[in-house]
Amino acid sequence: MCGIVGYLGNPEKTIGVLLNGLKSLEYRGYDSSGICIVSDEERNIFKSEGKLENLRLKIEGQNLTAPTGIGHTRWATHGKPTENNAHPHSSGPVSIVHNGIIENYKELKDALSKKGHKFYSDTDTEVLAHLVDEYYHDGVLLEEATVKGFADVEGSYAVAILSENEPDKIVALRKFSPLVIAENEEEKFIASDVPAILPYSKNIIFLEDGDIAVITPDALKIIDSEGKEIKREKKLINWDPVMIEKAGFRHYMLKEIHEQPRAILDTIRGRFSEADYTMEFQELLKLNLKKISKVLILGCGTSYHASLIGKYLIESIAGISTEVDLSSEFRYRDNVIDKNTVVILISQSGETADTSEALIAAKKQGAVTIGLTNVEMSKIAREADFTVYTKAGPEIGVASTKAFTTQIITIYMLAVFMSISIKRIDKVQSKELIKSLISLPKLMQVALELDKSILNLAKEFHTYRNFIYLGRGINYPVALEGSLKLKEISYIHAEGYAAGEMKHGPIALIDENMPVVLIAPKHGNYFKKIMGNFQEIKARGGRIIVITSDETFKNQLGGDDRIVLIPECSELLSPLVTVIPLQFLAYHIANLLGTDIDQPRNLAKVVTVE
Ligand code: F6R
Repeated sequence: MCGIVGYLGNPEKTIGVLLNGLKSLEYRGYDSSGICIVSDEERNIFKSEGKLENLRLKIEGQNLTAPTGIGHTRWATHGKPTENNAHPHSSGPVSIVHNGIIENYKELKDALSKKGHKFYSDTDTEVLAHLVDEYYHDGVLLEEATVKGFADVEGSYAVAILSENEPDKIVALRKFSPLVIAENEEEKFIASDVPAILPYSKNIIFLEDGDIAVITPDALKIIDSEGKEIKREKKLINWDPVMIEKAGFRHYMLKEIHEQPRAILDTIRGRFSEADYTMEFQELLKLNLKKISKVLILGCGTSYHASLIGKYLIESIAGISTEVDLSSEFRYRDNVIDKNTVVILISQSGETADTSEALIAAKKQGAVTIGLTNVEMSKIAREADFTVYTKAGPEIGVASTKAFTTQIITIYMLAVFMSISIKRIDKVQSKELIKSLISLPKLMQVALELDKSILNLAKEFHTYRNFIYLGRGINYPVALEGSLKLKEISYIHAEGYAAGEMKHGPIALIDENMPVVLIAPKHGNYFKKIMGNFQEIKARGGRIIVITSDETFKNQLGGDDRIVLIPECSELLSPLVTVIPLQFLAYHIANLLGTDIDQPRNLAKVVTVE
């Protein structure tokens, strides 16, 4: 949830590397921030409430140099987002930054208080600083004190620790929270996420749970809790640092909406054969699909909406019974899965606690697990039996856009692969399914041209305080996703419903103050039904924005209604097109309202707490 950076190298560069690293991680948490730098002479700590910019302004012009530093951008769990609670936290010579949650911090705090430790913040992190300090006596190295201090800690953490007594060293360790390290000829880096390091090195070491990294000018050493050295491979990460810049767009979200055709192309590339139209999922070669009786898809938020679409795709294309659940619900109920169930865990970050815990629960019950994630070496990628990657590239905007569409296309391909593997479809049918996949980036490009016209729509509608989104069939989850986008970045109340459910209650809400966004691509059965819903809303004075591929809908509209024409597309792939105007609508409304689009209030990009 929070972001960590650490640097050891050129004293002139430390502050810049820390602030730039935090900037690239700000999407992980952004309610307060801080840095600590140490040199032979002194330790300096700066903290600020609010955005990183406040910290930058505080430090600017101070001409600070030190070879070693750590930094943190916070998303509060324990204690309000005040300067006092911002990281780093210190005790004696020890300063620490931490991501995660310490579950037994109260017990630890009581025990330390009895030993005379005085606490100044409301955070669980401060306890960690005191714990390390407690064991950090003359003749004890920082890594030794860290191992002893953490022996009693329960919970999840990624931490980086400095000491003013050993200014040429950073100690870092992790449990259930990501942490990466890297080096170039002159410098060493740590971070909670790859983008912070990418401008300096593409060869990244992903620490594993229990690893303790001891970073000095001479070495990136990894040891276990017994002090035994561990070797971890460097992994080449091919993300271009330019991908994590805004490329001239005002917000990351807008850039990421526009990137979708490219992201889809990258995700499908190499996964089917144009020669014989077969799907090639190298990752799944060992999976015996003939034995599978059920698929269960799990995810949270936007990834849950992609999961719901996955049900339509797998049942329709592969004919395998598919259930969907929220990861957070699945874990705490008695569920019926076994070794003949495939559980697909969808997560952009691959680190969402609810989904990674659901993965562990599913594995315990003997199910075959497939992680579907965007982040290499993420927790879900490492722990699932099989991993299939979306190739969206780094998604920085907190509101998920390109991750959603690449997740859908990946499940579509999985469904085709499954269907071919179990011989449910023949060559001709698979060719048809694969062909419509290939034409998709072009159709999405056409939908992206709606950007300006949706801005005009947003100008008309941004003052409403409530919205309803309706969709049917495979576009019902798109209604949920459209309403989630609007509420999370504009703070406007929005509800998504299956259009057929309207008459069972929500129709009572319809009046001239409740605009209805109706998702109505022109597809067989659903289209006629949704026309019926349209009439029901009109009869009750509702104002409608209809997203459709049928131009003749125009003739039905009242003077206050609006139409957004999208390109025709196969029904099963239509969510990839229908969602684009909804992403734009949320974006432009939020922009007109002046909210913080890339970092909306109360949210974080990666939710590593339950
Ligand atoms: C919404 C959004 C969240 C995430 C959810 C799951 O725009 O981004 O709802 O989809 O927190 O995150 P991942 O996919 O990383 O597991």
